[in-house]
Amino acid sequence: MALENGSKITYLGHSTFHILTPGGKAMLIDPWVRNNPRCPAEWHSRAENVDYILVTHGHYDHIGDAVQIGVACQPLTVAVYETAVWLGGKGLTNVEDMNKGGTLALAGSDTIRVTMVHADHSCGITDGDQIVYGGEAAGYVIELEDGFRIYHAGDTAVFGDMRIIAEIYNPDLVLLPIGDRYVMSPQEAAFATRLLNARAVIPMHYATYPVLTGAPEAFIKLVDPSVDVIVLEPGQAHKLPAAEEGD
Ligand code: NI
Ligand code: MN
Repeated sequence: MALENGSKITYLGHSTFHILTPGGKAMLIDPWVRNNPRCPAEWHSRAENVDYILVTHGHYDHIGDAVQIGVACQPLTVAVYETAVWLGGKGLTNVEDMNKGGTLALAGSDTIRVTMVHADHSCGITDGDQIVYGGEAAGYVIELEDGFRIYHAGDTAVFGDMRIIAEIYNPDLVLLPIGDRYVMSPQEAAFATRLLNARAVIPMHYATYPVLTGAPEAFIKLVDPSVDVIVLEPGQAHKLPAAEEGD
């Protein structure tokens, strides 16, 4: 497929990423922007002007700006069923609910396909002084218009069924949390790269707060040298290569 490929992924700190797709669509994964201490200020308004938002789970450091952006700009917002219903109750009208194992072709794109996959984590949503049930935490495999596949693991422990994600979806690029305490440390994340047969990895969910001690340097030391570990500073972009033929 001959799409002009100016696509890139920009790291906005923590687990928040902005993707410009080969078809010219803008996508935000885990919309935590204005209160994200690592997100560059010049991205605060830019991150809101997107076509699609994917939410991995209901914790504030992932869903933080979903309501504000959703109400103001109405991007198509994807979340697990229970979290999607909660977002609808907060005034979002353009919400797509789904669940693990299912794939959604994003309306208005030609054609971005999003598969919700397992994550081993919790998913309560802080709503006032209550924590409400948000369903289960998830990850996403995103297939862009040119077939390039990105796996965003969300918040997760390492789990053996990452092998299934590798075998079925064979992602070209994987985004893995490494910060420890709430998610994998570099040790588990390095093991995850083997389960995933990863070729290229961007580490995430580290350095936001002092308790997130897992560092890219430690991760790189533990990962097989054949794996391309791409460490991005917040605001830094990585150009997405076109997907390999016949992949
Ligand atoms: Ni979380
Ligand atoms: Mn988190």
